[in-house]
Amino acid sequence: MLDLTGKNALVTGIANNRSIAWGIAQQLHKAGANLGVTYLPDDRGRFKQKVSELVEPLNPSIFVPCNVQNDEQVDAAFETVKEKWGKLDILIHCLAFANKDDLAGDFSTVSREGYNLAMEVSAYSLVQLCRAAKPLMTDGGSVVTLTYVGGVRVIPNYNVMGIAKAALEMNVRYLASEMGPQNIRVNAISAGPIRTLASSAVGGILDMIRHVEEVAPLRRTVTQEEVGNTAAFLCSDLSSGVTGQVLYVDAGYEIMGM
Ligand SMILES: NC(=O)c1ccc[n+]([C@@H]2O[C@H](COP(=O)([O-])OP(=O)(O)OC[C@H]3O[C@@H](n4cnc5c(N)ncnc54)[C@H](O)[C@@H]3O)[C@@H](O)[C@H]2O)c1
Repeated sequence: MLDLTGKNALVTGIANNRSIAWGIAQQLHKAGANLGVTYLPDDRGRFKQKVSELVEPLNPSIFVPCNVQNDEQVDAAFETVKEKWGKLDILIHCLAFANKDDLAGDFSTVSREGYNLAMEVSAYSLVQLCRAAKPLMTDGGSVVTLTYVGGVRVIPNYNVMGIAKAALEMNVRYLASEMGPQNIRVNAISAGPIRTLASSAVGGILDMIRHVEEVAPLRRTVTQEEVGNTAAFLCSDLSSGVTGQVLYVDAGYEIMGM
């Protein structure tokens, strides 16, 4: 029933085999989607090489750099999508960044620069990518982003990233409202804590995972594959009536009061 054959899916945010975006890319591929992958370029080309080797088995027909802080790179990535595919059906926004110093200690010590950086990369980027994707989603489409319960409730050390996630979740609602008439759906998955490159920058991530394992109804946290399965559902016609939502894939942790 979950068939994405013939759908063109652009996946951002794969850094390594622990990335949530990697879990999503694999499930979209399994469901038959034609993949495009973006990577964050660095001076020595290490990410490019690593990500390209990782994604090779999924045969991506597009593989382009895309640093969301670089408008020209974002424009060029979507220009490639236009040239190679003509239309886009699925956009996976799976990226975030904040300075490590701003992910521990007192929230009020965050600098203006650190605050703006987290907001720009982690929240504004969804607006930026949706603006570029919208004219290419000529047959409708589905956009999925990744958020965390720390955008709704206070989680120790999550600090400025919580503010960025709150903005991201509101972006989802405004974008869903704007793009709905074009049959483009925009949703977020709020994932439970998973050990990744990004999450290891958050102070006490292992304690967060342990806490979830003790308290969540399923007595565990979730896997990249489980998040990937939900993303595939949100990208498919099975979820055709769902937009503007934040769907928790967190082993039930969010419902608990204590
Ligand atoms: N791991 C968790 O516990 C968890 C839980 C809930 C939500 N999330 C969210 O999932 C998403 C993916 O994170 P992850 O945990 O898989 O970690 P990750 O480190 O594997 O992925 C983060 C990605 O962001 C990319 N990125 C950073 N700055 C960028 C920029 N300027 N331009 C383009 N890309 C940039 C990195 O290259 C990387 O691929 C993030 O939005 C994160 O907040 C993670």
